[in-house]
Amino acid sequence: MKKGFFITFEGNDGAGKTTIALACKERLEQAGIDVIYTREPGGSKIAEQIRNILLDPQNKEMDARTEAILYAAARRQHLMDIVAPALEQGKVVLCDRFLDSSLAYQGVGRDLGIEAIEQLNHFAIHNLMPDQTIFLSVNEEIANQRMHQRGELNRLDQEKDEFHRKVRQGYEILLKRDPKRIKKIDASRSIEEVSNDAMEVIQKIIYG
Ligand code: TMP
Repeated sequence: MKKGFFITFEGNDGAGKTTIALACKERLEQAGIDVIYTREPGGSKIAEQIRNILLDPQNKEMDARTEAILYAAARRQHLMDIVAPALEQGKVVLCDRFLDSSLAYQGVGRDLGIEAIEQLNHFAIHNLMPDQTIFLSVNEEIANQRMHQRGELNRLDQEKDEFHRKVRQGYEILLKRDPKRIKKIDASRSIEEVSNDAMEVIQKIIYG
């Protein structure tokens, strides 16, 4: 039975999810909370192997449905290897991307439809939904700047601006569908300001 807290970080490429999630992890640790940081796609041996296939810039011909299935497969494996055991042990799990990434990127970005991707992922995750999702929102200009600062671009990063725009719209649709679970934070500000807001959301869910 689940005892911990499952918190996911979402947003476009270049939103700063990893930086903010790691800053929150550090602050939770300082407060004596048993917390892990992990990421999707990947986060465990087999899931990282699937990640390599998904993000390899040479796999340009990958079919959109194949892509959606591989993300769901990586998700399932990572859930079984890392997330579910940590929640069982009562830990706080901070996960860099989860289901909403598939809904925004494959459902909206690739036009496969949010419902179809939900159905596909139901098989992978059943009812293990995040307790809270932090959606880090940045405009196109900042996202592009940050993405390019990171250096090498993966297969998804290399998609056209139009794709990233659709992903951004996808997140806004998800936010409207589930405003209780998904909290939007303006991530164009400093790391400190954004992580303060993220910590407020996390503390509410942990301490009630
Ligand atoms: P990242 O680890 O740098 O965020 O890269 C992962 C990429 O994979 C990113 O471009 C978003 C994309 N992605 C999807 O398209 N669908 C998914 O379900 C997940 C988890 C990620």
